[in-house]
Parts: sequence; C-alpha cells; structure tokens
Amino acid sequence: MNRTYKTEIPLPDGFEVPDHVPAELVKDYDFLKTFEANTLMEPFSKTARIFEEDDIPPIFYAPGMTTIRGAGAWVATRYQDIKQVYTNSEVWSNVGAAGFQSTVGETWPMIPLGIDPPEHKKYRNFLDPWFSPGAVDDMEPRIRSVANELIDQVIAKGECDFSYEFGRVFPVRIFLQLMGYPLSKFEDFLEWEYSILHSNRDPEKVKFGAGNAIAYIREFIEATKATPRDDLGSYIVNGSIDGKSLTDDEVIGMMFFLWVGGLDTVAASLSLIFRRLAMDAPLQRRLRTERELIPNAVEEFLRTQPLVNSSRWAKKDTELCGVQVKEGDYVVCLNIAGNFDPAEFSCPREIQVDRKPIRHFTLAGGPHRCMGSHLARRELRVALEEWFEHVPEFRMQPDADLSVFPGLIAAPSLPIIWK
Ligand code: HEM
Repeated sequence: MNRTYKTEIPLPDGFEVPDHVPAELVKDYDFLKTFEANTLMEPFSKTARIFEEDDIPPIFYAPGMTTIRGAGAWVATRYQDIKQVYTNSEVWSNVGAAGFQSTVGETWPMIPLGIDPPEHKKYRNFLDPWFSPGAVDDMEPRIRSVANELIDQVIAKGECDFSYEFGRVFPVRIFLQLMGYPLSKFEDFLEWEYSILHSNRDPEKVKFGAGNAIAYIREFIEATKATPRDDLGSYIVNGSIDGKSLTDDEVIGMMFFLWVGGLDTVAASLSLIFRRLAMDAPLQRRLRTERELIPNAVEEFLRTQPLVNSSRWAKKDTELCGVQVKEGDYVVCLNIAGNFDPAEFSCPREIQVDRKPIRHFTLAGGPHRCMGSHLARRELRVALEEWFEHVPEFRMQPDADLSVFPGLIAAPSLPIIWK
C-alpha cells in the first residue's frame, strides 16, 4: 500500500498515513492514552470528551494507534459504528488477531479468534458446549469453593491486597482445573502471560512469554495424548470435527488462544469492580442489601470497565460512518467510548446497578463475542456474593495508592481493609 505523510500533526519517525485518509481526520488525541495509570474513581472518564467536544469526529485516523499490523488505524467511537464492525464479518476480518505466536516463528492461527466466518463457526460449535450456561452451572460449586477457600485465607487478618491475594488467583485456579493444567504452573503461567500482554508489546518480552508458553503447552499436549483425562484440555487434544481428528496446528491454536484469553481477564475486571466498591461506600451498601441486583450489577460493571478495544481490518473497500475505508485498513473499535455513548445509554458515566438493558462491548460482539462470557460473568457474580456474605464492609487502606491502569492490567495491587 502506498503510504505518504499527509497531515498537519507532527508524526514520529516511521508513522505514516495512507493517501486516502483526509488530512482533517488525522488526529492524535490524548484520550487514546486512556490505558495509562490514573487515580480517578471512574478511570475511563477521559473519553467523555469524545461526546462533549464538537471538534472530535465520530471516526478519525490515529497514526500512533497500534494494531497487530503496526501503527496507524481508524478509530470508531460510536456505539452503532462499533456494532456494525463487530457484526458484519463479510466486510470486517479478524484474521491475524492476537498473533503473538508469530514472534516465535509460528504460522498457525489463534483459534477461534483469528478465523473468520463461516469457518469460525465449526470451531465455536466444537468448543461452545464447555462454555454454555449449563456447563457453567455445573462448574459453579467449584467456583464457589475456590472463592471461599481464598476468602478463608484472608478473613481473619481484617485486611488484604485484594488483587494479589484473591483477584489474580481465583479465575486462574478455575481455568487450570477446566483445562487440566497442574496448579504448580500457576506462577510460570502468570509470568509468561504478563510478558505477552503487559509489556507494551516489547518484542523480546512477548517472545519470552509466547516461546515458553507454547513450548510448555506442546509438552502438555503430548502428555495428554498418552494419558487422557476428563477435561477441556483432553477434549481438544483428542478432538475431532465432522469426523476428522484435529490437526496439530488446530490443537495448538486452540490451546494457546484459550491460555491467552482465559488467564487474567477476570482478574482485571475483579480488581476494577472491587476498587470501585472500596471507594464508593453507598454503592457497596446498596449491593450488600439488595443482593438480587448482583447479576445486573455485574453487567453494569462490565459496561463501565471495558478492558480492551478490539480491532478488525477491511476485506474490501467500504464506508464507515461516512468515511471511505480501503481494503486492508484497520479499524480500532473504541469500546472505552462506545460503552459510554449517550445515544445508547442515559447518564452513561453513572454506574446504575438496575440499568436495563445493558448491551455493551466489553465482551465484544458478533461472531467473536467472548466465548468465556458466561464463565466470566459467573465468576464475577460468585466473587461478589461470597465477599458480601463473609467479609464486612471494606474500604481502601487510608494510605493506599489509588492508581489504576484502566485496562487489562487494572489494579495489580488493591489494599483493602475491613477491621
Ligand atoms: C471479564 C473477562 C473477560 C473479558 C473482558 C473478555 C473479553 C473478550 C473480548 C473483548 C473478546 C473478543 C476479542 C475480539 O473480538 O477481537 C473475547 C474473545 C474470547 N474470549 Fe474472552 N474475555 C473474558 C473472559 C474470558 C474467559 C474466562 C475465557 C475462557 C476461559 C475467554 C475466552 C475467550 C475466547 C475463546 C474468545 C474468542 C471467541 C471467538 O473468537 O469466537 N474469555 N474475550
């Protein structure tokens, strides 16, 4: 693609803008750095400007926005445009998504995330039964018992680092059991995962994390072939679709993507939810007394705490929100804006635990809607129920650092107190 410099804003070396992008749509807003640390109670409030200031177009081109293909992407901010991108897979592709494996020379795709419909459907049909509401009902006693075990470890202290002692452990324990991974890999897994997802795309760190994880998962696959078990890991390793055994690439593509997607997303959500509750006593009191609101509150917390922005690329020339997008262009769906679009939600910045309906993009939408969504919601619900049941009203430690990275890192440390 012919890319030339064509904008008034100063671009760092190596950042370019394609010819077809009108100069007036090239923007470099500070709210794109929303995932930087801040101490706000509502950590995503920087994006409010998008809807308040007339000079911010609903879609623009950000030369510094990075996707898997490098720097430069359209940024869609409005709910309806984002929905169109997620749901129209005739035009918008996810091939190449989350391609961390390419850093260590691997060429297989992430499955199901990096496969477009219609092929994508066969993988979802294969995996979905393990993540259905019914399957999650079956897992609930285990989820509850892990939550209680972890609460028992901190309750007598009257204080804890919620993120470190509960949030980071709880979902990972469930995930390890679901897949059949040994608990002894807990610390290694988190170290590798942090290197992949939280290193600011430092190529060496991503390589370190992906290389170690893939090497371990390959060993695990071989051991599982020799000694099958009754878990999702075994189901994939010995799986078949339409009577054909899965290929080695299909097995590693699924195992690795589940590993990337299943480890710390819920931990990040938990830390944002509990941070808010610790800072917002009236909200915590309301949920403690009206526990029937917890499932809806989980949805509202998800809406107001969107952890990631997903991107897609155009398979053909198209129009989005009145602008011409060319084949190959990337668009970043700014969930951190779309979830707060006033055209869709009244008082969008308020957390209203009885709000209905709440259709948000935190778990994306369309064919790639998060496959672990029912599990994630259940884990969040159970965590809230069990904490309210066993732990008295909690607040932040008086000297606590309120900093939060409002994204997948969220609040890695959350010192709370209830004594
Ligand atoms: C609060 C927690 C979670 C959040 C915020 C989250 C978010 C997301 C998002 C935004 C996507 C779509 C990405 C895209 O379209 O580019 C996605 C896809 C996916 N997630 Fe989650 N996720 C969470 C928990 C989980 C868990 C616990 C699992 C599994 C154990 C999981 C497994 C997956 C899978 C397999 C996909 C790919 C679906 C497909 O491509 O069809 N997620 N998730």
